Amino acid sequence: MCSVPQGANLLTEIIRAEIGDGGPMPFARFMAQALYHPEFGYYEKDTGQVGLRGDFVTSVSVGAVFGQLLAFRFAKWLREIDGPVRIAEAGAHDGSLAGDILEWLVANDEPLFERLTYSIAEPSAKRRSWQAKRLAKFAGLVEWHDSPSDSPEIRGVIFSNELLDAFPSHRIGWDAAKRDWFEWAVGWRDGGFHWEPVDGVDAAWRRLLPTWPSELLDVLPDQYTTELSPQANAWWRAAADKLTVGKLVAFDYGHGPDDWPAANQPDGTVRGYREQKLVDEVLANPGEQDLTAHANFGLAKREGESAGLQTEQFTSQERFLNGTFAEMLKTAPAHSQAIDVRQLQTLTHPAHMGRPFRVLVQSR
Ligand SMILES: C[S@@+](CC[C@H](N)C(=O)[O-])C[C@H]1O[C@@H](n2cnc3c(N)ncnc32)[C@H](O)[C@@H]1O
Repeated sequence: MCSVPQGANLLTEIIRAEIGDGGPMPFARFMAQALYHPEFGYYEKDTGQVGLRGDFVTSVSVGAVFGQLLAFRFAKWLREIDGPVRIAEAGAHDGSLAGDILEWLVANDEPLFERLTYSIAEPSAKRRSWQAKRLAKFAGLVEWHDSPSDSPEIRGVIFSNELLDAFPSHRIGWDAAKRDWFEWAVGWRDGGFHWEPVDGVDAAWRRLLPTWPSELLDVLPDQYTTELSPQANAWWRAAADKLTVGKLVAFDYGHGPDDWPAANQPDGTVRGYREQKLVDEVLANPGEQDLTAHANFGLAKREGESAGLQTEQFTSQERFLNGTFAEMLKTAPAHSQAIDVRQLQTLTHPAHMGRPFRVLVQSR
């Protein structure tokens, strides 16, 4: 356990008071406050978190190529569906990816564009306003909902990039002697936040734990740590339930169905990012740095399948985007000339975004 020295910041005071009233809080609550507190949360501050001049880059901030390739792939899927169709994005941030996709579609597939609605699932009024500004030229085509549950049924594509890793996560640890999981809660002591192992603060995560074989649990080191996000799972389920025909797709870094628990990550995957650097002290300065934890594609896959979806593909971003580009070269060579190859290399380079980022595609 480490005590984290704190500079004065209002969100620190708010969280500290909550701990004073209710005792140590699950990290999921800390992360929710740090990222989404309506006034001081990291993602509620003026835009600028994502991109080379922000705290971290995403596939979207690499350039328009990510959106162009997604548009090409989505168009192919949408042409298989008759009548009005939707692309529904979540985690749209400042609307850049939506803009890149819509620019490509209006330029390259007028008939599809005519029957398309673009919906954005966005609970934050502030982020909606950034998106509306970026997408002003597509006003009338774009509509907003708080969440997939509030949206109409979707015939089309529901997708996100780096949404699942941004949901609040519980951080849990393995007690080898008790052969049970405990929660790493966040407490306050000596002027700083610190990690505190507790039993049963909030067992919302327990039902997500797979029944791992006892041979595996036998070799898990004491205090082995990982994350679980009931909110991410509930989001996936709600999206799956809304999909009447089409695809549900997520791009993210995260655990696959076969590589969790991960032997090479005994301390878990919670990370902080600020000014393009990893921050050691994830509990320091809430609201001033990004916090993230691995998406769990295995659990999303399971959730989608229990909602009746079929898993079509779980692959690397490298294979997904290179496959899409190869198809573009073959079937629409004129479109492929507009693709900036250097951006594509960044998105697909195995040591860069190509391998760590993965893609789950489910369908109904
Ligand atoms: C890591 S950023 C990724 C932004 C963008 N998709 C990109 O790739 O550049 C995560 C985004 O998800 C948003 N987000 C978090 N929870 C959300 C939710 N429940 N519904 C919609 N967006 C959410 C955050 O506000 C933030 O804009």
